[in-house]
Amino acid sequence: MKSTFFSAVPLLATIASAAPVEVRQATNIDTTVLQFALTLEHLENVFYKNALTNFTQRDFEKAGYSKDYYNNLKYIAHDEEQHVLLLSGALQNAGVTPNAACAYSFPYTDVKSFITLSSVLEGVGTSAYLGGAPLITSKAYLTVAGSILVTEALHTSLQRLAVGEVPMANPYGTPLDPTSVYTLAASFILNCPTSNTALPFTPYPALTYTGNACTLEEPSGKISDLIKRNGWGKWGNGHQGQNQCRAISGGSTASFTAASAVPAGSYLTFVSGLSVTSVKGTINGNTISAPIPTVDEGQTYLFVSSKDVEGALDGTSVLFGPSIIEVAPQPPTINYSVQ
Ligand SMILES: *[C@@H]1O[C@H](CO)[C@@H](O)[C@H](O)[C@H]1NC(C)=O
Ligand SMILES: *[C@@H]1O[C@H](CO)[C@@H](O)[C@H](O)[C@H]1NC(C)=O
Repeated sequence: MKSTFFSAVPLLATIASAAPVEVRQATNIDTTVLQFALTLEHLENVFYKNALTNFTQRDFEKAGYSKDYYNNLKYIAHDEEQHVLLLSGALQNAGVTPNAACAYSFPYTDVKSFITLSSVLEGVGTSAYLGGAPLITSKAYLTVAGSILVTEALHTSLQRLAVGEVPMANPYGTPLDPTSVYTLAASFILNCPTSNTALPFTPYPALTYTGNACTLEEPSGKISDLIKRNGWGKWGNGHQGQNQCRAISGGSTASFTAASAVPAGSYLTFVSGLSVTSVKGTINGNTISAPIPTVDEGQTYLFVSSKDVEGALDGTSVLFGPSIIEVAPQPPTINYSVQ
């Protein structure tokens, strides 16, 4: 990593000259956020490099993905590498030793499951930058974080489209707090160099969705294409639009299994876009279920909380989570009177 480090220098120089004072005055919380962001970027960097070594362009083509798609994937890998270099350099400039990459385990088995995992990880990355933004005190760092957020959102869009999801299923991005993001990231981390500085986050106990992680939500058009591409050959009722592997819809019941018994009176809290909705759960031992609020659209984060935290997730009331589900968006409506 050190040999390629200097490629980040021109960018860093730009940041430094744009706001030298703020960068120098960066507080502890800012470098903690940068170190945390670097943790995510290391994970993504290794994730894409592994995939590019595990699968050839031909493998992607056999799975129904074009040469252009594969080329875009290489741009994503390149972006993540640049993010690692930029954040590492910014930490060094602030006098903090950047953490090194860890050893990871990614649960994909083929091209299709890799792309699906990528769409989820990119969504988490986007949510992480959005949720981390209010913690940053330096405006120079905030601009850098916003700049990376844009790129992560573009990655999310490409990968969501590639698995048959509506890229902009929700009118709003979903901010996710660092502890929740760290909980999700930690599930892929096997071990880290002992020289790394520990992040000040303790993962929440796990929550797992009990159902098929289906994603297809494009209403029509290229659906057969997507079915073929994703290997989803089974059609319900023998006609289009009834695919058995469709994303779950708002209003239907979702069930989750927690790492231990769910206390009586717990809520399922759904975080999607700018909505935080708590629904009283039906509890049975380690399992909890509740209807999905109709405001939820797209990648949605689920928590078991000890109380109703409608409007704002309060970390102290989180018992388990987050789990991630894809909620099919409502058909788009347009009101031509809104001008
Ligand atoms: C992908 O390749 C890396 C090495 O480049 C290996 O460690 C990893 O287990 C592979 N992952 C899968 C899912 O094949
Ligand atoms: C459409 O927008 C207009 C103007 O804001 C509003 O009065 C009306 O209720 C809206 N219609 C619907 C169906 O939401």
